[in-house]
Amino acid sequence: MKIEDVKNVTVLGAGAMGRQIAMNTAMNGRKEGYKVTVADSFPQAVESAKAWAADYLAGRVKKGRLTQEEADQVAANLTFSGDVEKSAENADFIIEAVIEDLKVKRELFEKVSKVCKPDTILATNSSNLVSSKLADVTVNPERLMNLHYFNPALVMQLVEVVRGPHTSAEAVEVAKAFAEKTGKCPIIINKEIAGFVANRINAAVTREACLLLEKGIASVEDIDTACEKGLGYPMGPFRLMDMTGLDVNYYVRRDRYAESGDENDKPSPLVIEKVKKGELGRKTGKGWYTYPDAKK
Ligand SMILES: NC(=O)c1ccc[n+]([C@@H]2O[C@H](COP(=O)([O-])OP(=O)(O)OC[C@H]3O[C@@H](n4cnc5c(N)ncnc54)[C@H](O)[C@@H]3O)[C@@H](O)[C@H]2O)c1
Repeated sequence: MKIEDVKNVTVLGAGAMGRQIAMNTAMNGRKEGYKVTVADSFPQAVESAKAWAADYLAGRVKKGRLTQEEADQVAANLTFSGDVEKSAENADFIIEAVIEDLKVKRELFEKVSKVCKPDTILATNSSNLVSSKLADVTVNPERLMNLHYFNPALVMQLVEVVRGPHTSAEAVEVAKAFAEKTGKCPIIINKEIAGFVANRINAAVTREACLLLEKGIASVEDIDTACEKGLGYPMGPFRLMDMTGLDVNYYVRRDRYAESGDENDKPSPLVIEKVKKGELGRKTGKGWYTYPDAKK
């Protein structure tokens, strides 16, 4: 497969990430004329993604970001399907974004890699499961890799292309070019590692911020201010944790610690305490900061 041969793109999973990856591909890849199909095995997910896409495009037109003609072109290139296997048959590039469940992903890659073309690029958007965990069930795993988008995928530019020991140099090149042609900024990760690059760096910063707080070195507000005003971060680590959810931080670190046994990966006792109290961040109205207007 060469990048010039990529015409039909299939996104598996129409959830938070899948629908945005599909929309990004249809919208920013419209010069390439990419035909994008989003497939999900749950009919309500397909319907919800369809309604979201129509709303999103109408909003872009209203804000003057797209002309009606451009929005119509994007809509014409974006189709929705409840038949995962059928949607894979004609695809040149497949991006999987279904639930984070290894068993589900393994079954899907086994099925899909049998019905698609032998050189269709196969990418998983998983944040935590490296593509090696799918390689033994995938037909021709040299075309398999992680292609890791960030949430919200329509806004965040970074895409991590993660090479597994089974991934060919050609497949990595096609994925990199694909990300560029759809308006993203790809980086290549040469070896599989838990958390890849951006989330590892973020985890290290968050860990240090929690340690400084635990030791009473500085307050939540002052540590955030140090990162924002001294290091140019758009948002300090505590403010960011409030946005993504303290429970997410807790679960990711708990699972990483269970896998690595490295004390550095352990969840912070301060985070554990807050999670126990149900202070999970913006979504509960209180985390490191309070949010009086948040829905409880
Ligand atoms: N949410 C994030 O911030 C984020 C960021 C980067 C990567 N990811 C990764 O993206 C993937 C999806 O995450 P999400 O947040 O979009 O999840 P989500 O729960 O919003 O969506 C998952 C979708 O998968 C569908 N699904 C379940 N089983 C399926 C199957 N067998 N075939 C087809 N579809 C199936 C569900 O109906 C649902 O629509 C995960 O692997 C996750 O690690 C998530």
